[in-house]
Amino acid sequence: MNFKAFVTEETEKGFTSSIQERSLNDLPAGDVLIKVLFSSLNYKDALSASGNKGVSRNYPHSPGIDAAGIVEESNLDHFSNGDEVIVTGYDLGMNTSGGFSQYIRVPKEWIIKKPDNFSLEESMAFGTAGLTAGLCVRKILLNGIKPEDGDIFVTGATGGVGTVAVMLLSKLGFDVIAITGKENQTDLLLSLGAKEVINRSEFEGEMKSPLSKPRWAGGVDAVGSDILSNLITATHQRAAIACCGMVGGINLNTSIFPFILRGLSLLGIDSAETLIEVKKEIWHNFATDWKLEKINDQIKDIGLDELDLEIEKILKGEQVGRIRIKN
Ligand SMILES: NC(=O)c1ccc[n+]([C@@H]2O[C@H](COP(=O)([O-])OP(=O)(O)OC[C@H]3O[C@@H](n4cnc5c(N)ncnc54)[C@H](OP(=O)(O)O)[C@@H]3O)[C@@H](O)[C@H]2O)c1
Repeated sequence: MNFKAFVTEETEKGFTSSIQERSLNDLPAGDVLIKVLFSSLNYKDALSASGNKGVSRNYPHSPGIDAAGIVEESNLDHFSNGDEVIVTGYDLGMNTSGGFSQYIRVPKEWIIKKPDNFSLEESMAFGTAGLTAGLCVRKILLNGIKPEDGDIFVTGATGGVGTVAVMLLSKLGFDVIAITGKENQTDLLLSLGAKEVINRSEFEGEMKSPLSKPRWAGGVDAVGSDILSNLITATHQRAAIACCGMVGGINLNTSIFPFILRGLSLLGIDSAETLIEVKKEIWHNFATDWKLEKINDQIKDIGLDELDLEIEKILKGEQVGRIRIKN
């Protein structure tokens, strides 16, 4: 059987992508064949589609670290044909043919059955970016941070991780301060639940002093580098910051003072390799107590053939919200 896939190839002109016909024999061995109905665009996919060998080593390759669809072939008791399932992370879309394709074949350990009261379409409004925001919030809550402790910042606020983090923290009763480079998106961020929107230029440049006036009870950081180092200097006692991204750079200049004088916890998030039980917990939360009524306010739906343009935008930091793909 043939199907369509977005395929990135290494050519003399560099890395180029196109929609190609592929056959089931092109897919890797695995336990379960899934017909993909929806996927979503993440920053990591853009790196894979532009030839970043730290993400994908071998080309031609179909990126896509997220997929939601229907089991079409399984020899295992655990999954039956017709089951609605979600796959995010692990090696999907990195060195395993990914979700920018009408079919994937993956190991059973990567697959989650869709929770009740939650559609496949809704799951890809969140995708890995949303799951990551959920993992950040889970760790902040496990660290005991409560709404009455004070303001929580979200950096990269108009991006995929950022928009979901703003909505979720606000739903849970936190005062969310959205930090963004896009002043023209202030109204969107306020409508998603931010209490205040601050331009990220306030936090750019090298760390000025190892400690500054306490301002944050915690935060979700998708940016890293100078912005995170400056935010770290201004935390309350026992604050918790979850860090997951590096769009601003991979270095982090900090001092020991916020950790030993203010008890700061800096919490790392790796959504891809998160234990499947924890991923299930987050999806279950999104289907129940963490249901986000405004999730569709920041979604753009596209087809596989429109991915190129959106990949270019996400690499330039110009994306707002999430891109969902109808495969
Ligand atoms: N650790 C994990 O498990 C995990 C999972 C998912 C994503 N991530 C990482 O998290 C980051 C964000 O992912 P995403 O999907 O949310 O990407 P995204 O949709 O592109 O959002 C990133 C946002 O960061 C801001 N930004 C862009 N360039 C910047 C710069 N040079 N300096 C400061 N801010 C900048 C922009 O928001 P504003 O204009 O509003 O500032 C942009 O919309 C990426 O580094 C991604 O690889 C990590």
